[in-house]
Amino acid sequence: MSRLSLRSLLLLVALAHGQTALAAEGERLYAPCASCHGVQAEGNQTLQAPALAGLSADYLSRQLEHFKAGRRGSDPADNIAAPMRAMAATLKDEQAVKAVATYLASMPLPAITPSLSGNINQGSRLYQAKCGACHGGKAEGNPAMNTPRLRQQHDSYLQRQVVHFRQGARGSDPTDRYGKQMKMMAASVNDAELLDVLAYISSLDKP
Ligand code: HEC
Ligand code: HEC
Repeated sequence: MSRLSLRSLLLLVALAHGQTALAAEGERLYAPCASCHGVQAEGNQTLQAPALAGLSADYLSRQLEHFKAGRRGSDPADNIAAPMRAMAATLKDEQAVKAVATYLASMPLPAITPSLSGNINQGSRLYQAKCGACHGGKAEGNPAMNTPRLRQQHDSYLQRQVVHFRQGARGSDPTDRYGKQMKMMAASVNDAELLDVLAYISSLDKP
């Protein structure tokens, strides 16, 4: 083997090892989070904690940085997210945030039982017209648009987020670039239409 290819091979091994080490560090850092978000990061409807498994590492990191900086969870009307600020603060630096986000992104998507109801056909039409361009035709999220996956998430959590965006409890910080985009869109559906959209998103998970 030539010297060059040996070097590239060693580099690849080091990179693979780096990802594994990062995820292992993330698993350790996630331990205190499991009491609310679940061991499989499937979320907990009763505790109002969302599923985190399989969300993109970029989206997760951004939210954790928002909580740390008080760009999310510091609105007085948002007492449900407030404890997340203290939890995010336990991740001491960018590396720790990246590690836990890498670990969560690598976990399998959870199965979620819907808790709300609405009109699926109506919701499908509304979703394609008002949400799909950014969140993807199947609500799978779109990294190029910086949008998270919406399917395989608790419907009551998604509902609260849209309402919080609409009311300005989330996405109002002037430096929250992507939150601001969603804040503008949150007003495009009323409460009844939102239930229809959520029913459509939940229906995508049925095999
Ligand atoms: C005391 C319960 C609790 C603990 C412990 C906790 N969380 Fe949370 N977390 C929540 C709740 C509740 C929300 C939803 C906040 C909202 O409605 O805006 C949340 C939201 C989040 C979000 C936003 C998800 C999204 O889709 O935008 C991330 C990321 C997150 N938590 C990561 C973590 C990590 C990592 C830890 C451990 C360091 C942790 N959480 C510990 C309760 C908790
Ligand atoms: C212009 C693009 C755009 C459109 C259209 C849009 N969104 Fe979003 N949405 C975003 C972005 C960007 C984010 C991520 C914000 C962030 O990083 O804080 C987001 C985040 C969200 C979240 C938070 C998810 C979580 O895990 O916390 C929900 C819920 C949501 N959108 C629902 C909707 C619904 C429902 C519609 C249609 C009525 C919609 N969005 C239309 C761009 C859009």
